[in-house]
Amino acid sequence: MIITIDGPAGAGKSTAARNLAARLGFDFLDTGAMYRAVAWAALERGIDLADESAVANVSRSVAITFERQQVFVDGVEVTEAIRSSEVTAASRPVAANTAVREILSELQRKLAVGRNVVTEGRDQGTAVFPDAEFKFFLTASQQARAERRQQDFAAHGQQLPLEQILKDQADRDHRDAARSVGPLKPADDAIHVDTSALDAEGVVDRLSQIVNSA
Ligand code: C5P
Repeated sequence: MIITIDGPAGAGKSTAARNLAARLGFDFLDTGAMYRAVAWAALERGIDLADESAVANVSRSVAITFERQQVFVDGVEVTEAIRSSEVTAASRPVAANTAVREILSELQRKLAVGRNVVTEGRDQGTAVFPDAEFKFFLTASQQARAERRQQDFAAHGQQLPLEQILKDQADRDHRDAARSVGPLKPADDAIHVDTSALDAEGVVDRLSQIVNSA
């Protein structure tokens, strides 16, 4: 069975997907980590991110693997490294690269074959797994999303003012929705869940309730 969880940054997708997978005994697929892994490898190799075919070649040649909670690129453990602000910025042009999206989407489908998977990203219910049994689209108010991201940054030792996070978030939402390839939008048959008033436990309760009562 495939369960997809899409939505904007700060809606609580990662935590929800990880927790839902654990609760159901499913595997968890973090597709954002795959775009980040390609960005990391491109930076390592000194590739110009504007060179679309060179970046596509990186995505074709790297081996991205997941083991327990860790991410590896060609056997190198990059779990923390792919969360740096440099890699976050570099993952944007990588995610806008059509060839990279095709290659990673194919890899995501391959990784899910014959398995029970909760997969998380932006395009999972729309482009990658349009036939998934459950497609969730998580949203939250601007304020709730910004506060969560502020806490995430703080957990990584970065103190940022809420106003700046709110502004970056609005810019990013606009870019994500306007992107010509893989834009962030809910599938027509997505189940929308607003997580503003829910904590992590509340979100996984809601999602698992929907899955179990179907
Ligand atoms: O979710 P995360 O922040 O790790 O995603 C990293 C980058 O990859 C972001 O720029 C996001 O828009 C992009 N992404 C994507 N499609 C996905 C998952 C992430 O374009 N399925």
